[in-house]
Amino acid sequence: MLTLGSALTIDDLQILARRRVPKLFYDYADSGALTEQTYGMNRSDYTRILLRQRVARALSNRTLKTKIVGEDVSMPMALSPTGMTGMQHADGEMLAARAAEKAGVPFALSTMSICSIEDVKSVTTKPFWFQLYVMRDHDFVKSLLDRAKAAGVSALVLTMDLQLIAQRHKDHRNALSAPPKLMPKHLMQMATRPMWCLRMLGTHRHTFRNIVGHAKGVDDLGSLHGWTNSQFDPELSWKDVAWIKDYWGGKLIIKGVMDVEDAKAAVDTGADALIVSNHGGRQLDGTCSSIRMLPPVVDAVGKDIEVHVDGGIRTGIDMMRALALGAKATWIGRPFLYGLGAGGEAGVAKSIEILRQELDMTMAFCGEREVTKVGPHNLLEVGFAPFSRGGQLPE
Ligand code: GLV
Repeated sequence: MLTLGSALTIDDLQILARRRVPKLFYDYADSGALTEQTYGMNRSDYTRILLRQRVARALSNRTLKTKIVGEDVSMPMALSPTGMTGMQHADGEMLAARAAEKAGVPFALSTMSICSIEDVKSVTTKPFWFQLYVMRDHDFVKSLLDRAKAAGVSALVLTMDLQLIAQRHKDHRNALSAPPKLMPKHLMQMATRPMWCLRMLGTHRHTFRNIVGHAKGVDDLGSLHGWTNSQFDPELSWKDVAWIKDYWGGKLIIKGVMDVEDAKAAVDTGADALIVSNHGGRQLDGTCSSIRMLPPVVDAVGKDIEVHVDGGIRTGIDMMRALALGAKATWIGRPFLYGLGAGGEAGVAKSIEILRQELDMTMAFCGEREVTKVGPHNLLEVGFAPFSRGGQLPE
């Protein structure tokens, strides 16, 4: 029988999570926008990148250690900011942050998390990262940044691609609201997940704790729902990035770049890194996979800024492919969420270890000892052609 102990892959953790997490929250993680074409391609395009096997290369003393935005990490990977993580498992963000800290990789807390900045601070000993959604209420944005600074957050991740939320059919069918509001049909889904329910009863963290009680006029779930819909700033521009960067004054990572022109604009802000990301296929359906956009972005700005990638990574092989294509770091969302749903903190730790071992083994077979030396020479073939327009607008 498959258990956390016998799980060998991220896909195993996904099977366990599906059994243990109520459907509406499992589906929230395992879904993309509209037809889910881009969500699917994020994964399948990785299989089109073939690695170059080498033999008779000295392979002892391998290391995955590197730096991301100047911080020492045990491997080139960070845990992505994911919304409602505390609904995959009670106190999910606190557990994931702890597992990441123990594993020596960064954890980025979402604005739309269940556990607050202060909750995560209370269970960690090293700085974590914070992801910001820009709201119309700039005073509230500033207060979030103040709280992040007070908690010792060492890098800010600014998400640029969610000023409106795409339709994800599963969420509509499940009547999932943000923040979660329980309906009779949800109780049926929960009744079949008794351990999840017991743990949820054991915590008081059930709503968006970065927001409720902090933003003006938001004290309960009902008002927060209306507030969220009206608060994401549809006018977000590169000018806003400038004032946010100034106000923050620390390391900045721009998330959601899928275009060469936008990558250049991100460089112009003076940010430390950008993440080539289509939000895990959850926003613009019909665009290409993020891994497919990585090479043109690296070509255009790779010398000027750290380029990272997220979306579709399920194995250490995928990580090796992304690093070989020029990514300085890889971000994982669903892999750690499945671990969390499967087994709380131990499950997140397991997801990180699975990826670490797979990356180490893959790197060795490619004849590399140091992850910082991985590059295009480790590739045999990339099975997608360069874009004819290179990310530019047609003439
Ligand atoms: C939020 O970031 C979401 O993708 O649901």
